[in-house]
Amino acid sequence: MTVDPRWDHLLLDVGLATLLDNGVPYGAVEHGAIGWRDGRIAFAGPVTELAGEPHELARHVESLPGTWVTPGLVDCHTHLVFASDRAQEFEQRLEGASYEEIARAGGGIVSSVRATRAASEDELLRQSLPRAKALLADGVTTLEIKSGYGLEPDAERRMLRAARRIGEELGIDVRTSFLGLHALPPEYAGRRDDYVSLVCDIMLPSLAAEELVDAVDAFCEGIGFTAEETERLFTKATALGLPVKLHAEQLSDLGGAALVAHYGGLSADHLEWTSDDGVRAMAEAGTVAVLLPGAYYALRDTRPPPVDAFRRHNVPMAVATDLNPGTSPLLSLRLAMGMACTLFRLTPEEALRGATVNAARALGLADRGTLAAGQRADLAVWNIRHLPELCYWIGGNLLRESWLGGERVLL
Ligand code: NIG
Ligand code: FE
Repeated sequence: MTVDPRWDHLLLDVGLATLLDNGVPYGAVEHGAIGWRDGRIAFAGPVTELAGEPHELARHVESLPGTWVTPGLVDCHTHLVFASDRAQEFEQRLEGASYEEIARAGGGIVSSVRATRAASEDELLRQSLPRAKALLADGVTTLEIKSGYGLEPDAERRMLRAARRIGEELGIDVRTSFLGLHALPPEYAGRRDDYVSLVCDIMLPSLAAEELVDAVDAFCEGIGFTAEETERLFTKATALGLPVKLHAEQLSDLGGAALVAHYGGLSADHLEWTSDDGVRAMAEAGTVAVLLPGAYYALRDTRPPPVDAFRRHNVPMAVATDLNPGTSPLLSLRLAMGMACTLFRLTPEEALRGATVNAARALGLADRGTLAAGQRADLAVWNIRHLPELCYWIGGNLLRESWLGGERVLL
């Protein structure tokens, strides 16, 4: 059998946002071409630098003038597997109740826990798939999904298995994070230590052994878990060889950013209350700052994260939806990018880097997020004239098509 030496596919006459640091905004190539083979990019550069006739180079050739190609988007922080919704809390908050008040009164995360515990794995999948599909329609090819609405071994397992099945059903890459320390389940009231032990000594090792855990997360907050409790979990995760990340400083400063940085964490997420010390610790450790403007918006927050300090200290910034039923029922990563610009003053280029290369880094993935030979062929092709349009249009559908590992994603 002779092997066809040609690339599988070649797109011609496209703009490329390579996001390489080549001195040009977005690492842009205006009259570009991109070809791939066996799931990897073989060429990304100016059409004029192609080393031959397109049909000699590739089996399938398409010319797509009027489009821009970016790396496939990476949503690096979601809680999209859950049952039911919390629209009633939205109404309560509009009437003046705060997120913390609702949580302390037995609503909030715990109300999603009740609904999620009552749902089978199939039911969780059925309710969650449309949310994942909504993200795909906006160019997402890699998706992180957290557990944390089960808070008991079987329910956490069902959530993580449903998350894996979403990846299989949709043909996209799903990375899971175990968020057992999300809230104290009501049956452990007054027995915090026992719950932390259950999470660290029973749930985490067994779920990790089932290969359901790609990273370990916690909610370090007054209504969540203390820095000491978080540290117990991180010690265990590190012993198991699992990377850590943290919901840090969303509502108050418990020193979470510095803590997760100390454990070489992949990311610290939210960060509205992060101090300069926290920013410095993240810079030293290479921990990514994941900004979540959807939660900031929905909670009508007024204190943005310290974006200037992140820039000054060269802390990479990512942007994610935080898609969850309580604080961020946000079904579009592109809209999160726009909000990061309008609410947090990121530039559109920073927002795009935040939803691609820096988001990949927040998941520990170095093989995607830029358009360069050797990278995975994860691409989003957009019907836009100018790259800032990705952040400028509020809603609407700009995506023409997307590719994951060189295979067309079915939308
Ligand atoms: O990232 N803060 C903790 N976790 C979610 C909220 C989850 C919920 O309210 O259901 C967040 O905002
Ligand atoms: Fe979150």
